[in-house]
Amino acid sequence: MKHLVSINQLDSSEIIRLLDRAALFENCPNRKLLEGRIVATLFFEPSTRTRLSFETAVNRLGGRVIGFSDAATSSSSKGESLKDTISMVANYADVIVMRHFLEGAALYASELDRTPIVNAGDGANQHPSQTLLDLYSIRKTQGTLFDRTIALVGDLKYGRTVHSLIEGMAHFRPRFIFVSPPELRMPEECKDFCRLHGIPFTETTDFGPEVIQSVDILYMTRVQRERFIDPEEYERVKNVYVLTRSMLEGCRPTMRILHPLPRVGEIAQDVDDTPQAYFVQQAQNGLYVRQSILCEVLNIEIDN
Ligand code: CP
Repeated sequence: MKHLVSINQLDSSEIIRLLDRAALFENCPNRKLLEGRIVATLFFEPSTRTRLSFETAVNRLGGRVIGFSDAATSSSSKGESLKDTISMVANYADVIVMRHFLEGAALYASELDRTPIVNAGDGANQHPSQTLLDLYSIRKTQGTLFDRTIALVGDLKYGRTVHSLIEGMAHFRPRFIFVSPPELRMPEECKDFCRLHGIPFTETTDFGPEVIQSVDILYMTRVQRERFIDPEEYERVKNVYVLTRSMLEGCRPTMRILHPLPRVGEIAQDVDDTPQAYFVQQAQNGLYVRQSILCEVLNIEIDN
């Protein structure tokens, strides 16, 4: 793997290898594997977890970070093209981690230069490092990736994490329940992907006991305000589902709640100290998974 642009470029053995290596970093996160290497983090869209966990990953591995967290402070605000920005930064860095608002931006960047590109989110399309940390979290909490029933809840239209997760789980015989309001339904191409790969799924607008009590993973998502063209449509759907502690009655004891975060109200605070809440640990797992990804794109071997 030279670039990580999309989760569907990885087969199951490559996914498992990345997760196994992430587990080695969880045991021992401080290793001088990136000494002398420079990683650029170019964030054309806001981020807390993805950027800071990639940067922490580099720091814990002894490398150095350059980049920007706000494109307004870069020359793209003067009209510089993405092509020119990538070509320049490729002169300085060994890896480029980039988040961009345009779907396909990371793929485009990966075709420009030999410097490895890691997609940290491109519009509503893909978020492969998030998917790998989601898979890591599912395997860690369930003991397996196989035969899990997963409810994807909320903004299934614009949420890139759910689109990537379907593709990442495709190797492991999942069953999905898609829970969304009609306006934010799972896109047809994602449902076609499920049909093509024989992945069973159902769709519903009802977020109640029937869903919550029948799943291994409850994957909550935020309604993505920044992707709406019509602000009134956002206002209509923004608080459509709110998970509260009382709704967890009767759920499977091993069920876990994941959320890529940030949350803006779809998980009530009273859920945080339930045994099912796993979203904070999930974000922590992102550090180990991103250490694994950086070593993979740089072809760096890891000892136990
Ligand atoms: N999950 C995720 O991508 O979070 P950030 O937007 O904070 O990076």
